[in-house]
Amino acid sequence: MALPARVYLNGEYLPAGSARISVFDRGFVFGDGVYEVIPVYGGRPFRLTHHLQRLDASLASVRIPNPLNPGQWHDIFRELIAEHGAVDQSIYLEITRGAAPRDHAFPAAVTPTVFAYSQPLAYPAPEQIRSGVHAITVADIRWTRCDIKAIALLANVLMRQTAVESGCAEAILIRDDRITEGAASNIFIVSGGSLATPPKGPFILPGITRDLVIELARDHGIPCSERDILRSELFAADEVWMTSSTKEILPIVRIDDRDIGGGRPGPALQRMLELYQDYKHALRKGHAE
Ligand SMILES: Cc1ncc(COP(=O)(O)O)c(C=O)c1O
Repeated sequence: MALPARVYLNGEYLPAGSARISVFDRGFVFGDGVYEVIPVYGGRPFRLTHHLQRLDASLASVRIPNPLNPGQWHDIFRELIAEHGAVDQSIYLEITRGAAPRDHAFPAAVTPTVFAYSQPLAYPAPEQIRSGVHAITVADIRWTRCDIKAIALLANVLMRQTAVESGCAEAILIRDDRITEGAASNIFIVSGGSLATPPKGPFILPGITRDLVIELARDHGIPCSERDILRSELFAADEVWMTSSTKEILPIVRIDDRDIGGGRPGPALQRMLELYQDYKHALRKGHAE
């Protein structure tokens, strides 16, 4: 994936190659910042209110005041989206606490750094949707504030890399013998026609895609529960899915070298993909957010 040509940085739109931050930026030095990834379909950001609410929750948790109001965010997104026209895109935005002499405690006066860009959405390969992907389970080595969308993603990077080196697309994270989520996704299982996904709390990111899947299931009479899921339930499930803004919903058909549901995507996924595509279609027409 090529780098974006133009970015927003602290009030300016710049060629990416000319954008500069301080080497003392606390995002660079401590990973002291938060981020969001927002898909854009037909020029319309997907579930923007939910993404901006999650951003506010992350910022409040790390005690960085939101430097911009919703109108200012909308203006930036409009400008960044316009560059790519109607092509489906994903917006990345990041806010760090700003640049200051290195000290773990918060600096007395500091201006947050605000960075954003939009780029064409890199959809999963059609083959991954048709045939599914493979995953491994790994110990969840992260902290206990996984609900914050923090830029400090070293544990996630290491766990995803372990998956990739095993020829897999995702690592499913296990804490106390229970599934938490994927290295960069939420996880659902399907058993006997019912969906289940781990509950919100300090051990998972409250995924926007996850919430939409739950909403679509409830609106269409598909049973869905938010509950603890034991690792062993993965292998007994009829289907396992991963969800995220950029991957949408992907079937996981093999975990730790064991086939799930006969090693093929199942009917519940087909139904949910239809509902998800219908929702995106409504969004493109301006009938959904
Ligand atoms: C750790 C983690 N969990 C879950 C998700 C899915 O969240 P969303 O659906 O909002 O993209 C992500 C997305 O990148 C993630 O990094």
